[in-house]
Amino acid sequence: MNSETPILRIANVTKRYGSVEALSDVSLDIGKGEFVTLLGPSGSGKTTLLNIISGALFPTSGSLFLDGRDISYLPARVRGIGMVFQNFALMPHLSVFENIAFPLRIRKMPKVEVKERVAEALELIKLPGVEDRRPKQLSGGQQQRIAIARALVYRPPLILMDEPLGALDRKLRQQMQFEIKRIHDDLGLSMIYVTHDQEEALTMSDRICLMGGGKIKDVGAPRRIYANPSSVFSADFFGATNIFQGVADRQGDDPVIAHDKFGPIKVASSCIPVRGEVGWMVRPERLRFLEPEEKEDNVLVGAISEVILSGQITQFLVDVGDGLNVTVSCLTSDKIGGLAAGTKVRIGWPRHATTMLDPDR
Ligand SMILES: Nc1ncnc2c1ncn2[C@@H]1O[C@H](COP(=O)(O)OP(=O)(O)O)[C@@H](O)[C@H]1O
Ligand SMILES: [Mg+2]
Repeated sequence: MNSETPILRIANVTKRYGSVEALSDVSLDIGKGEFVTLLGPSGSGKTTLLNIISGALFPTSGSLFLDGRDISYLPARVRGIGMVFQNFALMPHLSVFENIAFPLRIRKMPKVEVKERVAEALELIKLPGVEDRRPKQLSGGQQQRIAIARALVYRPPLILMDEPLGALDRKLRQQMQFEIKRIHDDLGLSMIYVTHDQEEALTMSDRICLMGGGKIKDVGAPRRIYANPSSVFSADFFGATNIFQGVADRQGDDPVIAHDKFGPIKVASSCIPVRGEVGWMVRPERLRFLEPEEKEDNVLVGAISEVILSGQITQFLVDVGDGLNVTVSCLTSDKIGGLAAGTKVRIGWPRHATTMLDPDR
């Protein structure tokens, strides 16, 4: 095997539950050492895909290759993939030591080595000295660390985590995100991490695989997915507010998007010269309030209908007529202090800040 072989190849995997198609023709390669997050709303097929990778479920069709080896129909216990669940799934009647040692015991590892490995795993999760406690005697965050230690202890090449921080409060969640990332980097593991939280995905991942309705909607680096979503679905999922429909067209040599209300919206000339119905968006932070005579590629006129102060950022809802609202966000400063509801404004943005979206994905 050369080093280019992905640690996991998912090839055209479909899963049906009776008439429900939970996964439709999903294909994805995970590189060695990569941290890939499956992100998507509830019911999008994330857990189903993870279970198919772990071997808890078999695909209806399609294949899986672990480091080049076909594992599609191998039982979970011989795949050697680590798994961490949202509810920790620790065994309450066993000590922390025995919980972590469990995967080594079923592999019949000699006692001395088991002891060493468990100590090492506890060191790694920064919880030495709790071997003799029961899971119940630990906090939620500590229990999840134990579950992570158990998944790591037999040094699997790939670890799967299904919403592992879902049961923890916000502050602890952020701390654990950092810890999981550190463990991933220290050990050079490959990781498939599931979450429905976009911020978590953006913070932690090398790549994000955005899922919706059992399909992969977008795959890419966090920055790319956030800044240049490829579809209406991904723009919407990442909380974009200024999403509109229009018709792709040309004005001379320049690509534009015709819009009934806004007129032709200028886009970067590198935009694919498609014609027909498209989605498009412009991020609130890319919009500016213009001076009275100031020129810009795209200009809209309207009146402020709402001002929302949220600390460093102030958001303005601008009514541009016909029931259309555009959101503008600015750094909170004295300069925008005079902008109140009712103020007439001109807002503008450069053509390269207009992002075209595929309406069908
Ligand atoms: N055992 C099952 N039987 C029938 N339908 C299921 C079963 N498990 C999941 N589904 C359906 O498959 C789809 C994907 O579910 P799931 O993988 O759990 O999504 P997610 O983890 O993204 O929330 C959903 O529509 C869900 O209702
Ligand atoms: Mg799930």
